[in-house]
Amino acid sequence: AGVFTYDPGFTSTASCDSTITYIDGEKGELLHRGYPIDQLAEKSHYLEVCYLLLYGDLPTAAELEDFESRVTKHTMVHEQMQYFYRGFRRDAHPMAIMVGVVGAMSAFYHDSTDINDPWQREVASIRMIAKMPTIAAWAYKYHIGQPFVYPRNDLDYASNFLRMCFAVPAEDYEVNPILARAMDRIFTLHADHEQNASTSTVRLASSSGANPFACIAAGIACLWGPAHGGANQACLEMLKEIGTPDRIPEFIARAKDKNDPFRLMGFGHRVYKNFDPRAKVMKQSADEVLDLLGIDDNPILQVAKELEKQALEDPYFAEKKLFPNVDFYSGIILEAMGFPTSMFTPIFAVSRTVGWISQWKEQQSDPAHKIGRPRQLYLGATRRDYVDIENR
Ligand code: CMC
Repeated sequence: AGVFTYDPGFTSTASCDSTITYIDGEKGELLHRGYPIDQLAEKSHYLEVCYLLLYGDLPTAAELEDFESRVTKHTMVHEQMQYFYRGFRRDAHPMAIMVGVVGAMSAFYHDSTDINDPWQREVASIRMIAKMPTIAAWAYKYHIGQPFVYPRNDLDYASNFLRMCFAVPAEDYEVNPILARAMDRIFTLHADHEQNASTSTVRLASSSGANPFACIAAGIACLWGPAHGGANQACLEMLKEIGTPDRIPEFIARAKDKNDPFRLMGFGHRVYKNFDPRAKVMKQSADEVLDLLGIDDNPILQVAKELEKQALEDPYFAEKKLFPNVDFYSGIILEAMGFPTSMFTPIFAVSRTVGWISQWKEQQSDPAHKIGRPRQLYLGATRRDYVDIENR
C-alpha cells in the first residue's frame, strides 16, 4: 500500500494542467485564455468566446464566420431522436430529458465517437455546441406540451434558442433584441469555469476513453445538483418561498443556524472568497433587463434585492465570505424573460457545454493523460471470516 493524501472535496488537489481558464478566488478574477470575463461579456459574444475556449485565441473575422457557419449547419437534431422525448413523462424535469437525450446522441452520430481521431473529435465538438440549444428547447416544449420548433439558422445563437423556446406555430414570433443580448450574456458568463464538479466529472468520464456524448451526459447529470448548476432553480424557488421582504430575517436566521441544513441559495462559492466577477456583470445585466422591460414591481425581485442587502450587511456572511454568486442574478433575468424555474439549469447546461468540450478536447489531445482513479481512506471492518447464514 502506498501513502495517499486525503483531500475530501478536492479543496487542495489539482487534477490536471490546463491552459483554458484561470481563476484567482482572492482577487475575484476569471480569465479565459487570458482575457477577463468582464471584457468578454461586454465586448464579445457567446460564439466568439466558444471559439476562444476551443482554439485558444480570438478568431479573425474570417475564422469567426467559418466557425459560426459550421455551428449553424449542425443545429438540427436527428429526427428519430424525437422518440426519445416522447418516451418521457410530460412532467419530467428538462434536465432528466437532457441527460437521456445527450447520452443517446452516441447512438445516432457514430461517425464522431472515435476519440482517437482528431477530425471526429472536432465534429463531435461542433455538433454538441450546435445542438444543445435545440435539445434544451425541445425538452422545454415537450414539458409544456407544445410542438417542437425547428432551429432557424439565419438567427444568432441566443435568438435561435429563444425562438425555439417561445415561438408557437401559426403565430409570428419576433425575438426581442434586448432579451437576445441578455441571453447571450448568460451563455457567455457560464461558458467555462475550470475544474468545477461537472467539468471534473466530464474529465473523469473521458479519462476512461468513453465517447464524448456519454461524457457530456455525465457532466449534465452532475450539473443538476443544487450545490452546482441546480442552484439557479433552487435560488428562485427560495425567493418565491420567502415571498415578502418581511420574512427575510427568518430565512437568514435559518441559514446561520448550524442545526438547520438550509442555506441561502445563490450565495457562496468554493473558489471566490471576495466576489464572483460573473455576478457583477450579471447583476448589471439583470438591472438593464428589468429596466428595459419596465419591470419594477415584481415581488420576487423585491425580495431578491432586499435579501442581497440584508445578507451583505450581516456579519455571518461577511466573516464566511459568502457573496451572491452568478446564479443569484441569472435566475432573476430568466424569470423576467418568462422561463419556468425548471429551465434554469438546462440553460446553464447549454452554456457550459463549450467549457466541457474544450476541457475534454484538451485532455484527449494530451498523449500523457491517464485514467482518473482516486484512492480512498478506508474506515471499514478489518478482515473477518464469512459466517454461514444459519449461524448469524
Ligand atoms: N448559506 C449559509 N451558509 C453557507 C452558505 C450559504 N449559501 N454557503 C456556505 N455556508 C457556510 C457553511 O455552512 C460553512 O460554515 P462552517 O464553516 O461554519 O461549517 C461555510 O460557509 C463554508 O461552507 P462550505 O460548504 O464548506 O463551502 P464549500 O466551498 O464546500 O461550498 C458552495 C461552496 C457553493 C457549495 C456553498 O457555498 C453553497 O452550498 N452555496 C449555496 C448553493 C449555491 O449557490 N451554489 C452555486 C455556486 S455558483 C455556480 C456553480 O458553481 O454552479
